[in-house]
Amino acid sequence: MMRKKIAVLPGDGVGPEVTEQAVRVLKKIAEKFGHSFSFEEGPIGAVAIEKTGNSLPDDALALCRRSAAILFGAIGDPKYDLDPTAKVRPEQGLLKLRKSLNLFVNLRPVKVFKELTSTSPLKEEKVENVDLVVVRELTGGIYFGQPRERRDNGNTAVDTSIYTRQEIERVAKIAFDMAVKRRKKVTSVDKANVLETSRLWREVVIEVAKNYPEVTLEHMFVDNASMQLIKRPSEFDVILTENMFGDILTDEASVIAGSIGLLPSASIGNQHALYEPIHGSFHRGAGKNIANPIGTILSAAMMLRISFGLEKEAAAVENAVEKTLQEGYRTRDIADQETPADKLLGTKEMGEKITLYF
Ligand code: IPM
Ligand code: MN
Repeated sequence: MMRKKIAVLPGDGVGPEVTEQAVRVLKKIAEKFGHSFSFEEGPIGAVAIEKTGNSLPDDALALCRRSAAILFGAIGDPKYDLDPTAKVRPEQGLLKLRKSLNLFVNLRPVKVFKELTSTSPLKEEKVENVDLVVVRELTGGIYFGQPRERRDNGNTAVDTSIYTRQEIERVAKIAFDMAVKRRKKVTSVDKANVLETSRLWREVVIEVAKNYPEVTLEHMFVDNASMQLIKRPSEFDVILTENMFGDILTDEASVIAGSIGLLPSASIGNQHALYEPIHGSFHRGAGKNIANPIGTILSAAMMLRISFGLEKEAAAVENAVEKTLQEGYRTRDIADQETPADKLLGTKEMGEKITLYF
């Protein structure tokens, strides 16, 4: 019997709708396996700015610090995207949370459900054996480097990419540890033909690899990687990369799986961990009960496994998702002309349906 306190940060757009379904699943798991999970909500993102002027109010950060794990929905609002001069931005809340809790690694697994191979825009035989995980560095690089500023009366803009040996080493170790338990291959993605940070990245990754003789290391430039990901996705096992390359490649990789709405992620540090779907706030779909909750529900499964060590419970969630898809149930993003009307589910109904298959 496990007692855990979970912070829930629903955030913007469809965030509240998808986190609600993941909480439903976690409650059902607690009931079925005899655990006690408690949930406390906190504000983040555009919603928090409206209420407090701050994209991550102090009490929301404090709530995350005292919780065993964080479930996060989505962040962002078109209002701010259309106003590049806005001083306070929703995304700052998430970036501050990652930095404050030192969530330095982001795990983004991409697997293709058998039932959905035809949903991918890629040919079925290309995607059916895909099983990869992107290990993305999350608290360094151009996302956080200083200086970042305007110069020359606003007519020049500067961002800075910085990496230290220590930052590269700790994330590389995680990638290799994962590879040992998988197909024993790491593809390190960089731009070492151009960038100094990438040359240090490559140097450190080669050093770390020496402690893992059973793992094959390959290096790939990011432009080539973005092509190979589409041409031969099943040949990747662990993709290790820096913050911004990882951001871009994981959106690309989500296409392989058929819908970005299916993909979970975990952002992990030494003391805290945050679980969120990789999709964004999808404002056009907000409040319409059409978003796919599976990415968030699978993120909750990652929480059960990684933060709580509840392997059986995590597998129960993953199997229930699989079963639901096998039975033909679909949200809009993964439906096609052959999906019968009674199998086309809303966000809520999909969450409910999944809990029936535990
Ligand atoms: C992601 C998102 C974030 C990122 C944004 C919302 C700051 O795109 O988690 O991939 O760029 O890291
Ligand atoms: Mn992204």
